[in-house]
Amino acid sequence: MRLRFMLPSTGIAGLLLLHPNPTTATQTDLSQYVNALMGSEGPEPGTGFGGGDIFVGGALPFGVAKVGIDSTAANWSTAVLNGGWTPDGNVTGISMMHESGTGGSPKYGLISQMPLTSVDTPVNVLDNLTYSQPRVGSDTAKVGYYKTNLQNGITVELSASRHAGIMEYSFPEGEKHVLIDVSHYLPGSPGDANGQIFAGGEIQIEANGKAYSGYGTYAGGWNNGAPFTVYFYGEFSTPPDKSQTFSGVNTDPMPRYQNLANGGISEPTFKNTSKKVTSGPMNNRIGLLLSWNDGPASHITSRVGISSISTDRARSYIQKEIPSWKLNDTVASAVKEWNTDVFNKIQVPLDDSANMTHVRLLYSSLYFIHLMPSDRTGENPLWDSEEPYWDDFYTMWDIFRCTVSFYHIFQPEYYESMIRGLIDIWKHAGFLPDGRSGNWNGLVQGGSDADNVLADAYVKGMRGAINWTEGYAAMKKDAEVTPYNTFDPTDMTASTKEGRGALDDWKELGLNDFAVSQVAAGEMPGDQEKYLNRSAGWQNIWNPDVRSLDFTGFMAPRFSNGSFNDSGYDPLVCYGCEWQDYTYEAIPWEYSFVIPHDVKTLIEFMGGEKTFESRLDLMFKPNMSVQNLGANGAAITTLINIGNEPDFATPYLYNYINKQAKSVNQSRSLANQYFKDTAYGIPGNSDAGAMNSWLLWQMLGIYPIVTQPVYLLSSPWFPDLNMTINGNKTLRISASGLENGYYVQSVKINGKQWGKNWFEHDDVMTNGGTIEFDLGADAKAWETGDVPPSPGHVQLNKE
Ligand SMILES: *[C@@H]1O[C@H](CO)[C@@H](O)[C@H](O)[C@H]1NC(C)=O
Ligand SMILES: *[C@@H]1O[C@H](CO)[C@@H](O)[C@H](O)[C@H]1NC(C)=O
Ligand SMILES: *[C@@H]1O[C@H](CO)[C@@H](O)[C@H](O)[C@H]1NC(C)=O
Ligand SMILES: *[C@@H]1O[C@H](CO)[C@@H](O)[C@H](O)[C@H]1NC(C)=O
Ligand SMILES: *[C@@H]1O[C@H](CO)[C@@H](O)[C@H](O)[C@H]1NC(C)=O
Ligand SMILES: *[C@@H]1O[C@H](CO)[C@@H](O)[C@H](O)[C@H]1NC(C)=O
Ligand SMILES: *[C@@H]1O[C@H](CO)[C@@H](O)[C@H](O)[C@H]1NC(C)=O
Ligand SMILES: *[C@@H]1O[C@H](CO)[C@@H](O)[C@H](O)[C@H]1NC(C)=O
Ligand SMILES: *[C@@H]1O[C@H](CO)[C@@H](O)[C@H](O)[C@H]1NC(C)=O
Ligand SMILES: *[C@@H]1O[C@H](CO)[C@@H](O)[C@H](O)[C@H]1NC(C)=O
Ligand SMILES: *[C@@H]1O[C@H](CO)[C@@H](O)[C@H](O)[C@H]1NC(C)=O
Ligand SMILES: *[C@@H]1O[C@H](CO)[C@@H](O)[C@H](O)[C@H]1NC(C)=O
Repeated sequence: MRLRFMLPSTGIAGLLLLHPNPTTATQTDLSQYVNALMGSEGPEPGTGFGGGDIFVGGALPFGVAKVGIDSTAANWSTAVLNGGWTPDGNVTGISMMHESGTGGSPKYGLISQMPLTSVDTPVNVLDNLTYSQPRVGSDTAKVGYYKTNLQNGITVELSASRHAGIMEYSFPEGEKHVLIDVSHYLPGSPGDANGQIFAGGEIQIEANGKAYSGYGTYAGGWNNGAPFTVYFYGEFSTPPDKSQTFSGVNTDPMPRYQNLANGGISEPTFKNTSKKVTSGPMNNRIGLLLSWNDGPASHITSRVGISSISTDRARSYIQKEIPSWKLNDTVASAVKEWNTDVFNKIQVPLDDSANMTHVRLLYSSLYFIHLMPSDRTGENPLWDSEEPYWDDFYTMWDIFRCTVSFYHIFQPEYYESMIRGLIDIWKHAGFLPDGRSGNWNGLVQGGSDADNVLADAYVKGMRGAINWTEGYAAMKKDAEVTPYNTFDPTDMTASTKEGRGALDDWKELGLNDFAVSQVAAGEMPGDQEKYLNRSAGWQNIWNPDVRSLDFTGFMAPRFSNGSFNDSGYDPLVCYGCEWQDYTYEAIPWEYSFVIPHDVKTLIEFMGGEKTFESRLDLMFKPNMSVQNLGANGAAITTLINIGNEPDFATPYLYNYINKQAKSVNQSRSLANQYFKDTAYGIPGNSDAGAMNSWLLWQMLGIYPIVTQPVYLLSSPWFPDLNMTINGNKTLRISASGLENGYYVQSVKINGKQWGKNWFEHDDVMTNGGTIEFDLGADAKAWETGDVPPSPGHVQLNKE
């Protein structure tokens, strides 16, 4: 069955009074322009593979609770259960915690409820395939609200606060049940070494059956995480007539944990008299079945709070955050918070002249960059600290390129808090994370990308309560201390958990340390030159003799004795694209353009500006790609893959040869081709919003160069845009002549004619300012000034 989805209303703007102050003007409810299903499908309509893997459900900006359905896999080889929701899966539960936009093995899908109309045979509460429900008709997804109709006649509506959720079940006439399976989680595919497991827990009936409390402990998932515990408290609007705890043998395969994986799924034992059931040494499955007697159709509402600290804390979140039993009170609070915290900070014209597709792309992209990471301040179970605590950085490799630069200007308070949280993780857990989820650093993707995040914040002047002495020490540790080997089957040669597994080689042979040198410049000037020198290490793996598609000079593997392996090396392929392979998740053709700190040397190495330009042109030519990148490269035939983060800055590189019109053309073409206000609206995984942040910068007409206080100019999509930045300053970006074409004719910054195709952070991002574009149809060579800087320009003495 193919589901059709209702898109958010595009009708008359709803009016919402945002401030109690009666003198404040009413303001349009901008949340209505969010397409909360943008990225929910892949290229094959009605299926998720190759899509955004987004979370669909109720959540607040950077909230802990992300309440939504979990679903089954139609086909494990193309399964993408990562966000819980899939277009074609059957519902196995409604759970409290999710990731958004991730690849790899699913993580979370925890603390669930499943409403049922029968628990008679063949239903086995330990076997979700006996009770999972196909959906009927269209799901409705809006900011802070989600609704689905199950085949058994139950309608589920839900919303969320920061640490709690509310679910309203509209049951048809007959029996009514809610199954609470503490041992429920989003599964990996059979045999997946990184799948999650249930390691133990407890559930207890409270308040004569009207409520329940307990905890579950889970491990594994995408980042091979250690066990972590989620405490919960749940309650119902109507007391059930019967509450039964149950337990059963755990038959899920789980390496290194007690279980009975050989043999079919077991039958549960219902504990008719015990109010509490605990998962013992054998990691039994445990849960609770609540039943209401046969009766007329009715609504049963449940509120559930979660905490990493205690069931009391979980309960207090319900009281504080969801005081009302009316679902729509929580929906209204969520909408208000999203508008105030996020959407109202960007204003564009919404009159008849507005292109509403662009408006929806704008607000939807803002929505998706605020689902992760999770602000767990006050919820750190691991160490005592006054510092903020954040989780679900999934991953730095994805978000360092341009997502965090957006947070920097748009959410400076949250962002400062994130940076402090990152530094506190180094302080107490030993290393900055690259990926972190479930309180666990895990799965670096070839390096320590938190260094880039810290450097980007530092060079743009973020200080506040960040202790940069410690921030620098955290980065220096990445640069100097080899992490212990985790012996992860993904790559047995070194740690995949944190730091730089190959650091000993890096130190001896030299590799990229530009980010560290940038922070050293301010915090430890004596170290700066050392790391700047190391940042030129990429030149050591530049093989000037490799030839491909008539261009010479590529990144290439090199033996430690200094000689290159020239036998048959082909920079059009990545030889697997995984941890142990030549290049990770992109081909050498792509990586050979990723030297943001020293484009000047790169241009020289490629043979000068003319060759650089034609080689860059070739990146955008259709039908050139030979490497199969799986879901990461779905429907992409060019060498450039804008669905993969390493290429994010590549379309803008023409600015470095003062051919900005070409940057505009290439980046705009990619945006038009791959980013749409539809279910298949982004090219592959959203990657915690990284993909959406690329589009946001594109729509603003600027692009940040990471770890430098520098932005390249491209071409804006809106005739006028006001953005609240740096707390309470305004950046205004206007474009005249938009109706004639998108090429830049001239630019003014803060009222002054601007000859360069780039500007610095302090020009408009600190105190606000204006960028006025004059656009037109003529691909004009308008820039006269210096090309963007190459602050990492170092000439290596090659031996
Ligand atoms: C969903 O359930 C229906 C009916 O039980 C079944 O035919 C279908 O294969 C299931 N689909 C998935 C994706 O599990
Ligand atoms: C599952 O997907 C794989 C990969 O697309 C395909 O080869 C296989 O035929 C599918 N299996 C079923 C049962 O549809
Ligand atoms: C559902 O059942 C399948 C088959 O036993 C199992 O692989 C999966 O882990 C179960 N849980 C969920 C939430 O899908
Ligand atoms: C609970 O009651 C059911 C019948 O209602 C019975 O079959 C079952 O054996 C009882 N379980 C226990 C542990 O006494
Ligand atoms: C609750 O809000 C949703 C989303 O705005 C709306 O579709 C639904 O009709 C509302 N329900 C009630 C009972 O007002
Ligand atoms: C942006 O702000 C200016 C100055 O306050 C105002 O004139 C203009 O209408 C605003 N534009 C939008 C789209 O809100
Ligand atoms: C709005 O923008 C989209 C995408 O850029 C474009 O396809 C469409 O033609 C535009 N609509 C109008 C009315 O200009
Ligand atoms: C910053 O951290 C260092 C090292 O832990 C400490 O000595 C220093 O007092 C801290 N600075 C501030 C302002 O807290
Ligand atoms: C950096 O490299 C330059 C040129 O090779 C060399 O002269 C200098 O000593 C190096 N500096 C450090 C700190 O290693
Ligand atoms: C360098 O090492 C490689 C691999 O061990 C070997 O094939 C090659 O001949 C060596 N080259 C030199 C110049 O020793
Ligand atoms: C040299 O590269 C080729 C092609 O990439 C590879 O098959 C071969 O194993 C490499 N040789 C060595 C000694 O690593
Ligand atoms: C603007 O924000 C800064 C930093 O958050 C704050 O210090 C200042 O008081 C604010 N000014 C106004 C007028 O709100």
